[in-house]
Amino acid sequence: MTNPINNKTFYITTPIYYINDIPHIGHAYSTIAADVLARYYRSKKYEVLFSTGTDENSKKTIEAAQQAKQEVSEYTDAMAETWQDTWRSLDLSFDDFVRTTEERHQLATNSLLEAIYQNNPDHIYKGTYEGKYCFRCEAFYRDDELVDGKCPIHKKEVELVKEDNWFFRLSDYEDKLLQWITDTDAIAPESRKNEVVAFIKRGLEDISISRANQDIGLPLPFDKSQKIYVWIEALINYLTVAGYPNQDYERWWQNVHHIVGKDIIKFHCIIWPAMLMSAGLTPPKQVFAHGFFTINGEKISKSLGNTIDPVLLAEQYGNDALRYFLLREIPFGADGDFSFERFQIVYETELGNVLGNLVSRVAAMLGKYNDGKYLQEQVSFSQQAEIDDALSRFAFEKYIALVFDRLTELNVLLEQKRPWELVKTNNDQAVNVLSQVANELIGIAQVLHPLLPETAKKIQQTFHDGKVDTSVGILFPRIEE
Ligand code: MSP
Repeated sequence: MTNPINNKTFYITTPIYYINDIPHIGHAYSTIAADVLARYYRSKKYEVLFSTGTDENSKKTIEAAQQAKQEVSEYTDAMAETWQDTWRSLDLSFDDFVRTTEERHQLATNSLLEAIYQNNPDHIYKGTYEGKYCFRCEAFYRDDELVDGKCPIHKKEVELVKEDNWFFRLSDYEDKLLQWITDTDAIAPESRKNEVVAFIKRGLEDISISRANQDIGLPLPFDKSQKIYVWIEALINYLTVAGYPNQDYERWWQNVHHIVGKDIIKFHCIIWPAMLMSAGLTPPKQVFAHGFFTINGEKISKSLGNTIDPVLLAEQYGNDALRYFLLREIPFGADGDFSFERFQIVYETELGNVLGNLVSRVAAMLGKYNDGKYLQEQVSFSQQAEIDDALSRFAFEKYIALVFDRLTELNVLLEQKRPWELVKTNNDQAVNVLSQVANELIGIAQVLHPLLPETAKKIQQTFHDGKVDTSVGILFPRIEE
């Protein structure tokens, strides 16, 4: 039911992940970013829908199930569980987890494809496809994109596919897409927007939306002998979660934001909006493409054996440290590098020294000099407007810098006022300084909550109702590598 009083909605999605492997830190990156936004908009009293899920109807799934010596359905159930468990153990606050093998997804998929077919019968047609296909990418490649005749990503043989398929008249959407992109802020950051515009201007070809002779996949509603091309069906997950074809879906759809990696922008910024336009639906409010990161300078890959399990890392350093490092280290939208050395440095210097030590020093001194009490005063974070602006642009690094700059100033303030010396001559003044910092820390905890939920809670517990609780323990204790 639409709530007539509160119609501020915010719908944030992550890509739905392939289940041929367990989640690695790159997947956690997209999901953590979405989680911070979901928590932030909830704190702003928006109704929030945060979705993630698994992309299961891929040939990769069959290959992985065979390798695991399991039935496909047994394998997919177990992997969907593993992905959900991972996000739960990282305390990611998703509202929905969609699996593309669910019935509701089949319903949404059929409804959207039928809507395209009925709305624009000439936009769907049957033809013969001939091309090179990499099933690991689930994508076709032109000859000039192949490297030594092999897939440029996986460096494996591609299949020559020649079959009768159904096509979608994507070529008809060049002008409409360009108009949508230039009239709105739908594609961010700017560099990706320019990349997509340039790609469209080179000319769009129609795309094949079905496969003949394939075991896995959802049947095409108007030709059950064919399976829907997995990407076409996967994109529709975003509508499935919103409740499409139920009319209520619009409530979420009016403010849907897709977070995706830069590797999948053509699907999200070209094919997806064109499909929606063709069906008479509005294209997404925003597609934000973040960059990719390497690990110690190398591409993340199973064969290099350098994948990092985000759960293990979080077990060692805590969920908050992982969230902080990923979003602080790499400006959202840019590429970056993940290194353990940097992780340890950032953990110790910023989380440990700047934040953790400040909280424990102030709490300890108030304990000693004022019986564990502070003078309560409501202090809101002074740069809330700048934080709102940064987060509306998904500029996490800017948000973090604003908060941590203030924390650094508070540390400097303590060094200048030196309450530990002041207390010897003027106890009241010492308590005043410490109370000011305690009150500011409570305000900071509030703005930090979306990024560091556990830490924010601990700060609020430490300074509560004029009393200091030192039993909370040290935030970000030293960890030996
Ligand atoms: N199933 C498709 C997406 C369908 S969405 C309708 C897919 N899945 S995936 O499992 O390969 O996950 C891709 C996403 O994981 C990327 O778009 C990106 O968001 C994230 N990342 C995977 N590796 C990454 C890095 N090395 N660095 C940053 N993000 C990474 O594509």
